[in-house]
Amino acid sequence: MPAMPAIEAQFRSLPGGGILYDAARVRHPGAQLFQHGHWVAHNAVREVSGGRGSVSFIAPGNESTRTDDAWVWRHYRRGGLVARLLQDRYLFTGAERTRCFREWRLLARLIDCGLPVPEPIAARFLRSGLTYTADLLTAELPPSLTLAQSLGRAALSSQQWQSIGRTLAAFHLHGVQHADLNAHNILLGTSAADQVFVLDFDRGRIREPGDWEQRVLQRLRRSLEKISAQLPPTVFGKAQWGWLMEGMAAGKAVGCRL
Ligand SMILES: Nc1ncnc2c1ncn2[C@@H]1O[C@H](COP(=O)(O)OP(=O)(O)O)[C@@H](O)[C@H]1O
Ligand SMILES: [Mg+2]
Repeated sequence: MPAMPAIEAQFRSLPGGGILYDAARVRHPGAQLFQHGHWVAHNAVREVSGGRGSVSFIAPGNESTRTDDAWVWRHYRRGGLVARLLQDRYLFTGAERTRCFREWRLLARLIDCGLPVPEPIAARFLRSGLTYTADLLTAELPPSLTLAQSLGRAALSSQQWQSIGRTLAAFHLHGVQHADLNAHNILLGTSAADQVFVLDFDRGRIREPGDWEQRVLQRLRRSLEKISAQLPPTVFGKAQWGWLMEGMAAGKAVGCRL
């Protein structure tokens, strides 16, 4: 496999905030990268979808050093009850502690480890008084469907469940704790059946092995149970979870680091 060009982390302060970006990939590290109007003017917003309705697919054109690059832009939003009060604002305690810089740096580390996650492009925070808003650009993954979408179309094979388990084992072997592992944050490649990606590393971290691994898996299991409640019983149950666990055990046994 040709070596991927390394990510070149670089920081630049912007009026009222700052940007952390891959200098090997971003041509003009500026606020325009996070202005909807900029992309619309270049006819570069392809589509909008996603979890909380805040993900845009961007064709960056000559903002990228790569031809035909494709980026995904996410604006950080709060979930749950605080969302109504604070929407998209977080307490500022330093640039490196912002949600977006943390996720950008974690993704860069995971890419370094060879884990299947989106490459980080640029993270930006913007301050206003004590708070900030956050945005992240990542590279779009190869054509894929979320695990949730895939299950809505057809049952997965035992091999596919095992591939998911092996992938999760690799993350756990590296000590990567996902803060919100669910069926919307696991993607399955549509060209190769065993391609599995994981995304959405907001609040994720690297830590020593521990109980957290079981908690992460239980969260995923609950998500799968919730989604499959409306689907035929063959889509998800004990057998499917068992295959996933088999893949997980096999991955751990061989120290599978993908
Ligand atoms: N880099 C990416 N490549 C392809 N699809 C992506 C990428 N980032 C996000 N998506 C899609 O957008 C959805 C929402 O993104 P995510 O990062 O999970 O944010 P949130 O859950 O906070 O809305 C994902 O479930 C996935 O379908
Ligand atoms: Mg998500």
